[in-house]
Amino acid sequence: MGYKPKVTVVGAGFVGATTAQRLVEKEIANVVLIDIVEGLAQGKALDMMESASIERFLTRITGTTHYADTRGSDVVVITAGLARKPGMSRDDLLLKNAEILSSVVLECIQYSPDTILLVVTNPLDVMTYLAWKKSGFPSERVLGMAGALDAARYAYFIAEELKCDPSDVEAMVLGGHGDAMVPVPGQTKVKGISLTDLLEIDKIEAIHQKTRDGGAEIVKYLKTGSAYYAPSSSVVQMVNAIVYDLGEVIPSCVYLKGEYGIKDVYCGVPARLGSKGVREVVEIPLTDQEITALRKSAEEVRQNCLRLGL
Ligand code: APR
Repeated sequence: MGYKPKVTVVGAGFVGATTAQRLVEKEIANVVLIDIVEGLAQGKALDMMESASIERFLTRITGTTHYADTRGSDVVVITAGLARKPGMSRDDLLLKNAEILSSVVLECIQYSPDTILLVVTNPLDVMTYLAWKKSGFPSERVLGMAGALDAARYAYFIAEELKCDPSDVEAMVLGGHGDAMVPVPGQTKVKGISLTDLLEIDKIEAIHQKTRDGGAEIVKYLKTGSAYYAPSSSVVQMVNAIVYDLGEVIPSCVYLKGEYGIKDVYCGVPARLGSKGVREVVEIPLTDQEITALRKSAEEVRQNCLRLGL
């Protein structure tokens, strides 16, 4: 097999392991899976490799607890941290996960100074800002996964309502990852037709609420953990766009420098992704109400960053 990119996945829990599995099974990259718990990443990696003859992949996955093994990664996906428990908001996780994330970032950049950091740990927007600060990287090389997941959930609920193929739906969700997310129905298209031309406003509103509650609904079912199938798919979509320099526009948590009138904060907006990370932030037309909601959402992220002294 020819050259394949190297992707490190930090955290061999539900999101990390499923991400690693999708990356190797789709032959997108060779993966190093790393966790603080001795044996966890090694065991899962070996288990996945033992499926290679059946699943027919030539990519490799290695499990480790040593950061030296992550040397020269093209992308580092960070899922390390605590997952949300029922009744726990993403922000309850703030302090604990900030501590974990800071140590992980410093370890990773030591061995992969040119990498792209893709943050998954919640609360997402704040953790991404923290990763950027800790790394000292240009902001283009630090981004977070949230909008891709929110958009995938939005697409699914729309497809359920319209009884259509979910992959025919191009969904757009902006803002911070949480209750203040901003679905954009006018820029959400089903085979090129705006959602606003396909559904009544009350139906659209109901779908928005379902999308906002998407993560919490799964936590309620699982009781002891949070979602990981759709989150890992979303991470893989972003990694694929980055390592193969696709220039795909994906709603991503990126650093804003005045786009949408928002500055010095990480927030979800459409971004064109490529091998350097964020190629450009794409500014799409929004209604006054949407732009107000987006700025409010960004302001909430800023307040959480301040709580962390960032
Ligand atoms: N270094 C490396 N791994 C760590 C560290 C650390 N310092 N601290 C914790 N971990 C590992 C844990 O050992 C665990 O295996 O991170 C993994 C987290 O896995 P899960 O508890 O299964 O959580 P998961 O469902 O994968 O969610 C991870 O992604 O979507 C977000 O909100 C979610 O922040 C959470 C993260």
